[in-house]
Amino acid sequence: MKKIIMTMMVTGLLASQAQAADTFKEGKDLFQQNCFMCHNAELEPAQAPPMFGVQMKYKMATEDKESFVNRITDFVMHPTKEKTLLKEPVKVLGVMPDIGAEEDEVRKIAAYIHDETFQPPCSHWKHAAERFKKEGKMQMYKKHQQRYDAMCSNFTAAPKVQHANFKGGITAEEGSLQAVMQQIAMDYAALNDAIFKEDFAKAATAAHAIAFHGTPSLGTKMKLMGGLRTDMKEFKKADHKVHVLATEVEKAAKAKDMKTLIAKQSQMLSACMACHTSYRSRIIEILK
Ligand code: HEC
Ligand code: HEC
Repeated sequence: MKKIIMTMMVTGLLASQAQAADTFKEGKDLFQQNCFMCHNAELEPAQAPPMFGVQMKYKMATEDKESFVNRITDFVMHPTKEKTLLKEPVKVLGVMPDIGAEEDEVRKIAAYIHDETFQPPCSHWKHAAERFKKEGKMQMYKKHQQRYDAMCSNFTAAPKVQHANFKGGITAEEGSLQAVMQQIAMDYAALNDAIFKEDFAKAATAAHAIAFHGTPSLGTKMKLMGGLRTDMKEFKKADHKVHVLATEVEKAAKAKDMKTLIAKQSQMLSACMACHTSYRSRIIEILK
């Protein structure tokens, strides 16, 4: 009897997995037929924004898959300027035309767009960077060139901030959030050490390094955005809080004001812990 139930459960599981794969394939085929002629990242000049960025924007604007699918479907069925999330493509190409798609098909396509892992649109970024440079739009040029450098080439930027000289082995993978945190922790330890030795210059250096800590690679950031979705804003706020307090620690150290220094350092530690309580275990899951 047990065996029969087990067999039924396993068959059920396999059947639902097969069904999920079918739905994905169907959505992908429909996407190829209805959307890809414009949303093809290789086209030059571009006819529509690559799906890599579209997916990211919509994930950051929605809580879950259901609202993602609803929002994409609503846009594609009745595109208006007010609904658009991609301001730059709208400026360059105008609002997407109503392509007269069937709603049930668009829903399947939207579910596929949610689940697909799109490749970074490297040649699109490269061309866009070159075009913006030629047009003298240096902000836009920089934005696209940075994306290209971060995700399409193996070059990594040299660290800009001088870190406190505190010994400790970095074990985490380069570009990971964990490596960033380990560096912050070393700077934090250096700050504590400096406080006990009343070494204000060293305290200021360490606090500065915390305030202007490195950032994880663009790939890690993308994963974070995709996983935290609408909570990304709150996560950035938590990071900013530590930034502001570390800047105040630095100021107090420069003023040789030990009382304020200790008060701000303690507030900063609370801000570190507040972010850990809210996000740490969740983010470790996301980045797995
Ligand atoms: C005729 C070309 C064309 C086709 C076909 C097309 N799109 Fe678009 N799409 C565009 C353009 C141009 C934009 C950029 C302007 C904009 O954002 O509205 C865009 C933008 C989008 C956006 C982002 C809108 C925003 O700014 O928030 C989504 C989502 C989207 N398309 C989905 C689809 C889906 C799904 C299909 C297939 C069912 C599809 N598109 C077919 C041209 C097209
Ligand atoms: C905006 C949120 C946020 C803030 C602010 C923050 N952290 Fe973290 N921290 C994290 C997350 C998320 C992880 C888990 C990263 C991982 O393991 O991938 C982490 C991990 C760590 C770790 C463990 C690293 C390891 O080797 O596993 C240390 C140590 C750490 N943080 C120290 C600090 C200190 C010190 C501060 C304040 C100066 C701070 N953090 C502020 C989010 C934050």
